[in-house]
Amino acid sequence: MMHDETKCLHSGYRPKSGEPSVMPIVQSTTYRFDSTAHVAELFDRPTEYLYSRFANPTVDAVEKKIADLEGGVGAMCTSSGQAAALLSVLNICQAGDSIICSSAVYGGTFNLFAVTLKRFGIECVFIPPDADETEINRAFRQNTRLIFGETLANPALVVCDIEKFARVAHAHNVPFIIDNTFATPILCKPFQFGADIVIHSTSKYMDGHALQVGGVIVDGGNFNWKNGKFPEFTTPDDSYHGLIYTEEFGQLAYIIKARMQLMRDFGVYPAAHSAFLLNLGLETLAIRMPRYAEQGQRIAKYLTESPKVEDVSYPGLSSDKYYPLAKKYLGGKTSGVVTFIIRGGRKNAARFMDNLHLISNEVHVADIRTCVLHPASETHRQLTDEQLLAAGIHPGMIRLSVGLENIDDILTDLEQAFSKVD
Ligand SMILES: Cc1ncc(COP(=O)(O)O)c(C=O)c1O
Repeated sequence: MMHDETKCLHSGYRPKSGEPSVMPIVQSTTYRFDSTAHVAELFDRPTEYLYSRFANPTVDAVEKKIADLEGGVGAMCTSSGQAAALLSVLNICQAGDSIICSSAVYGGTFNLFAVTLKRFGIECVFIPPDADETEINRAFRQNTRLIFGETLANPALVVCDIEKFARVAHAHNVPFIIDNTFATPILCKPFQFGADIVIHSTSKYMDGHALQVGGVIVDGGNFNWKNGKFPEFTTPDDSYHGLIYTEEFGQLAYIIKARMQLMRDFGVYPAAHSAFLLNLGLETLAIRMPRYAEQGQRIAKYLTESPKVEDVSYPGLSSDKYYPLAKKYLGGKTSGVVTFIIRGGRKNAARFMDNLHLISNEVHVADIRTCVLHPASETHRQLTDEQLLAAGIHPGMIRLSVGLENIDDILTDLEQAFSKVD
């Protein structure tokens, strides 16, 4: 078995003698065939590339690399992280179903589940991220089809107790889906703790350079779709010539169904060029993640000592509420994202951010460059104060995404901006 550093470079694409060393960009919408019968066969069982709305060799290589890093059986890239979250749920749910979700998830996911899916007839029951098993059990209904959580929640930095959520989900014969964006498979491999499906916004650390928006769904291949609760996996699919996913594809039933039904119909597949750029980011992921964690730890410690700061959330700090879970699931390394509450609330948050010179104020996170964001007035402004608090967000909270500049330069910029607020 290869190590992560090696997988980052070699998984997904192994050139044969005389082929390009670097994964080529196959910039083609379509593929030429000699025989009609062959094309017909591929419509029944897509084992080769047919059309780039649902499969493309460059994207496929990246999918294989990410599946390998996560330890899954297959993956499907999407054109955004939002699309990955949406399809991961729609592959299991339809109108009349319900899902359970930890309230400490990315604001876009919260809105997708609370508002948009509701309009399509899928209800979401939100539970506190620290809910105990009895509380999670209470959220179950007859029609609950899955539980959803986030390894390291954006921006609250709540660490998900993956084993607990997976255990309760499995006791009810439903899968546990987890968004592993902030941790990446370098810091946490959720399948090892019982998660069934992993999703990512690849726009973050995986891409790493703020080049392109993307997402991915990874199938762990271990969930038993034949437990009687998921007839759409075990009975003929009329839209695919009566094909039965569990019979045809076994362990790959979930991810192939997602591609054959949902990617076919929604068409949210990334372009080959985007996958090529994502691959460049992935090649250095295993090197970058520990460095982000090291830099994040240094900045988090500095913030805890600052008189201008009311509170710091960073699960890598031994004083943090989530430190024990961070040790268990992330080996204590909790990325470069640090959140803190500045003294003086909203007003000082804006003043501090407006006075930063090196560090950028931008709607992004997990980038190679250090950046900041004020969730209450930016990404999470659609949430009510009550929902903000449920997601662990204080009005004075600033999300600082520590990049890979020299640590002293980052500290100098923070120090001078703090000096501008009372
Ligand atoms: C944890 C997490 N999941 C999902 C998303 C959505 O991803 P995208 O912006 O790629 O659609 C984000 C975006 O910030 C995120 O941080």
